[in-house]
Amino acid sequence: MIKTICYISDSTKPETLADLEALYLQAKANNHKYNITGILIYKNQNFLQVLEGEENAVNQTYIRISKDIRHKNIFEIINTNIEERIFQDYNFGFTIVDNKKGLQNLNDYLEWLKEAENRSANKVISIVENFITKK
Ligand SMILES: Cc1cc2nc3c(=O)[nH]c(=O)nc-3n(C[C@H](O)[C@H](O)[C@H](O)COP(=O)(O)O)c2cc1C
Repeated sequence: MIKTICYISDSTKPETLADLEALYLQAKANNHKYNITGILIYKNQNFLQVLEGEENAVNQTYIRISKDIRHKNIFEIINTNIEERIFQDYNFGFTIVDNKKGLQNLNDYLEWLKEAENRSANKVISIVENFITKK
């Protein structure tokens, strides 16, 4: 059974590019190991993350992440089983988005997903869309 968890949180301090790169490398290595896909978006000192994968792997990863002092006020938006992953084809499975170009690319990908009528993904898509387009 595969599942997805989507949450938002506040960064405890403004993240530098170097901070985000270190986070990305750490997350990417672990997520590859546990076959977790998803995205991590950093915007206005907030994170939005989508994790997808085997139930155990996602739960364990989420427990680790929620103890991390680099962020706070973690709020779970979605925690549910899914039929298929949304982000496995996006930038080799896991990506961090922290700039305009990255947000535009992600928006294009979401538009493409919508056209492909991936219905079960619609809730995740609209949450991500809302996060990246609001001021
Ligand atoms: C916003 C945020 C997102 C994170 N995302 C992931 C993730 O997707 N996968 C992951 O393994 N660790 C992620 N981490 C890091 C974990 O909290 C934790 O530091 C890491 O998994 C520990 O890895 P290690 O045991 O290999 O040192 C994230 C941390 C933060 C602050």
